[in-house]
Amino acid sequence: AADIPDDLTNVLVTEEEIDAKLAELARRVDADYAGKNLLLVGVLKGAVMVMADFARHLERHMEMDWMAVSSYGAGTKSSGVVQIRKDLDTDLHGRHVLIVEDIIDSGLTLSWLLENFEARGAESIEVLALLRKPDAAKVQIDCKYLGFDIPNEFVVGYGLDYAEKYRNLRDVAVLAPHVYS
Ligand code: PRP
Ligand code: MN
Ligand code: MG
Repeated sequence: AADIPDDLTNVLVTEEEIDAKLAELARRVDADYAGKNLLLVGVLKGAVMVMADFARHLERHMEMDWMAVSSYGAGTKSSGVVQIRKDLDTDLHGRHVLIVEDIIDSGLTLSWLLENFEARGAESIEVLALLRKPDAAKVQIDCKYLGFDIPNEFVVGYGLDYAEKYRNLRDVAVLAPHVYS
């Protein structure tokens, strides 16, 4: 965190903190899914880093699938419309699904996904999210495996983008308002 580019104001969660938290969550998931055939569903594109690191902390077998949805486009506010860009390859009927997300902001993406997956007949559906913003409290989403509650700032890095940039930053950092205002 020594060299922060001037389009970021500060680092909110470091690479080391993320790694330690994902390891801790993986221990819980290993225990909770004992004897079950776990399917991780990563929500593209933001969840790629969380998925890659979390899955490698698991000791149990799992299957991995991906769904690409987008509600933000190039802006900083949710459009309110969730679009499927790529659907799952897996039949969810009877499956134990763990949705892997980078962040819950308005909660719109996840409430939509939860309803959608339930309709496909999943046996159980839980949510793992690295980050959660305060607005998420307005919608009823039970996030069983949560990394960090963060303040209501526009964050980028570790998968999170602004206009498709910054996803490859190792830390989660706050985007300087002059970049998007
Ligand atoms: C972001 C983020 C979450 C969602 C959270 O995805 O990765 O999936 O928004 O916001 P919400 O709780 O208000 O719905 P985005 O739509 O930007 O697509 P991306 O993952 O491809 O960046
Ligand atoms: Mn996303
Ligand atoms: Mg995005």
